Amino acid sequence: AANPSWLADKLTSLSLAEPLPKYPNCYPEINTVDIYRSHLTAILTEVTGVDSSIIYPALQWTQTLEKGDLVLPIPALRVMRKKPDQLAAEWLEKFPESPLVHKPTVTGTFLQFFFKVDKLAQLLIPSILTRGKLFGQNKDMGMKDPGDPSKGQKRMIVEFSSPNIAKPFHAGHLRSTIIGGFLANLYEGAGWDVTRINYLGDWGKQYGLLALGFKKYGNEEALQADPINHLFKIYVSISKDLADEKAEMATLKEKVEDYSHIEKDGLDEQARRYFKAMTDGDKEALAQWARFRELSIKRYKETYARLNIHYDVYSGESQVTEESMAKSAARLEEMKICEESEGAVLIDFTKHVPGKIGKSLERPLIKKRDGTALYLTRDISEMLQRVEKYNFDHMIYVVASQQDLHLKQLFKIIELMGYEDLAKKIQHINFGMVLGMSTRRGTVKFLDDILRDVAEKMHEVMQKNENKYEQIEDPLATADILGISSVMVQDMSGKRINNYHFDMDAMTSFEGDTGPYLQYAHARLCSITRKAALAPEEIATADLSLLTETHALDLIRVISQYPDVVQNTLKTLEPTTVLTYLFKMTHTLSSSYDHLRIVGSEEELMKARMALYDAARIVLNNGMRLLGLSPVERM
Ligand code: ARG
Repeated sequence: AANPSWLADKLTSLSLAEPLPKYPNCYPEINTVDIYRSHLTAILTEVTGVDSSIIYPALQWTQTLEKGDLVLPIPALRVMRKKPDQLAAEWLEKFPESPLVHKPTVTGTFLQFFFKVDKLAQLLIPSILTRGKLFGQNKDMGMKDPGDPSKGQKRMIVEFSSPNIAKPFHAGHLRSTIIGGFLANLYEGAGWDVTRINYLGDWGKQYGLLALGFKKYGNEEALQADPINHLFKIYVSISKDLADEKAEMATLKEKVEDYSHIEKDGLDEQARRYFKAMTDGDKEALAQWARFRELSIKRYKETYARLNIHYDVYSGESQVTEESMAKSAARLEEMKICEESEGAVLIDFTKHVPGKIGKSLERPLIKKRDGTALYLTRDISEMLQRVEKYNFDHMIYVVASQQDLHLKQLFKIIELMGYEDLAKKIQHINFGMVLGMSTRRGTVKFLDDILRDVAEKMHEVMQKNENKYEQIEDPLATADILGISSVMVQDMSGKRINNYHFDMDAMTSFEGDTGPYLQYAHARLCSITRKAALAPEEIATADLSLLTETHALDLIRVISQYPDVVQNTLKTLEPTTVLTYLFKMTHTLSSSYDHLRIVGSEEELMKARMALYDAARIVLNNGMRLLGLSPVERM
């Protein structure tokens, strides 16, 4: 009764009248492959005598079609009495005729199952066409209790991007933005209630210095027009002044006996005082700082929007209250986790964590001699504030691997403070570096510069094909999207932890597994749809048994894997898991066009092929959007 009627009817017509047995993590209504898992499990329980709870999860999807549609590693069934090849022979003997699968083949210690694709098409394609944008999603995964929807969704916090105001938006921020946006989408699709947080670097003595810089170099008009660049320029200038002054003082030190009065009036001391005023709640100082912050956020938002990213919260180091830091400090002291050392306060991990690990965590400062808090100190209290505010089930920090130590220290401190449950809910998602991120204008400082340069490059590439170029309504907007796709796809191509070279020429090429290639595959499917101009009802009622060519069957098999790919991605948390699949799928697609023509085909065949292309387009579109790309319809 849980099956929607179309599925129940389909199953009946395939002489699978019996209701599918229900296994944990089996979702036949939304993942067609689960129908096969369920069906195979029932057969294999009979054939092997092994319990279905062991068989069902052992049925794995495959990376290549030659290996079958599902495989079963025989040792996973833990039948000890015979060798795998003997077992395989026995089971094969007993394996009954099935309406859905061929008799298995044995390779090594695996049983390989090939689906009867005519049946697969009839189950899969209607499911994709009706679920549309939802195909591949599974909202049950994020339920607190799948059996009781009233318990609600699990809460996820994804903290990502987190640039620093008045400083460059570097490659680390770019990767965090791309990966974090993807993870947030992934969990949302899996039914979690996701809160996206941007934890800005917006607090500390350097913002006192920035204010002094604004007095000296600031210009209201420039600030309004381009806050990010203007504040950055001011910060560079005033930092140079500070460095010059320090050098000067060093020479003076040698000549003058008592130079403390000179230091007192120095920029460094002024910045410290200004920041002190900020922390003490000085209205004017805070108002100025708030304006810098708001103008910067406004500009960030525009840039993030181009990447399909929005935040629920712009938090930041400034949002950690003195009060909560005092509270954490008191707890650290009470529990004797921290200690004084030459007027400062630090945590000596060797005293709390035995062996190599304790040593590797080093001895981070949590309070400077002048009493000011540090990056790490703020992160501790920010986390506890988030617990209060969001009561999350899981929280992900998307931060470059350069900060591995920082996050390890943070997580260990939380554990030492006695928050063991919290420590189990937090996760650092790290990533490697981008090497040589520079464009034609030189080394890039801001995300906008990168995006403008790749868009320009894409625009040049597009102009090479005059005919096509003329048909595009807004070529500059398309170039912008293609440029962004280029950057994102290159970023997501490898495993997160790998470094990669920022390569403008490679990423903007139409050859190879690039963003433009993926966009082209999508645009081509859209163009086929436009040309065929069939009504949705005609496609929905197509006779899918007409899809018989190997190319059609392979394409059906590949697109059937998409929900499994998404489930697997929830384990790997790697964008490349999705991307690799999308390239495999688009390669299958592009090699099938010559064999599965629409134009010139007989009417019924045309409808059936169109249904298949439509399904492929939905899968590609869903996969691209999951990654954070904006699929284009023409290019
Ligand atoms: N603003 C920091 C930086 O640019 C990144 C912040 C990462 N998040 C955190 N909770 N520490 O290096």
